[in-house]
Amino acid sequence: MPDHIVQVCFVCLGNICRSPTAEGVMQRLVDDSGLGDKICVDSAGTAAYHVGERSDKRSREAARPRGIALNSRGRQFQTEDFERFDYVLAMDESNLMDLQALEDATEHSGHLGLLRAFDAIAPPGAEVPDPYYGGDSGFEDVLDLCEAACRGLLERIREDFELP
Ligand code: 4NP
Repeated sequence: MPDHIVQVCFVCLGNICRSPTAEGVMQRLVDDSGLGDKICVDSAGTAAYHVGERSDKRSREAARPRGIALNSRGRQFQTEDFERFDYVLAMDESNLMDLQALEDATEHSGHLGLLRAFDAIAPPGAEVPDPYYGGDSGFEDVLDLCEAACRGLLERIREDFELP
């Protein structure tokens, strides 16, 4: 598939904290690797609570010093998204179960799973915890967990799609 653009979607509940952070982290890694024209990154929420909103200010302020800009607007994941995305990556088991229920009605042949499964040192079933109701350290933790997992994800995409 030489001309295929690999499509990646990160999914959490609200699409204002964890999945926009994962999207920003992955976009930075993709850009730094010179693969910006080969890999397209997006995010969505299983819920519609924050459709159209900017990412949570706490997420944006935690990401900025790391050189990561969170510019996406909240959107809800749609069943049709399975037609587009090669990798659909959930932040926690609850998100994953909601996505699996939607995927059942599709012919999705891509990967659906937990983001942290791509972190070689994370235990099986590891999640990115929801920082929404907690303190600022939770937002730093989300960045650290997403960075570790996205590095592994990028390696896996390179292998799967024979990218340089
Ligand atoms: P996220 O965090 O799923 O990481 O975007 C949340 C954002 C909003 C809510 C819950 C989690 N909420 O209940 O509004």
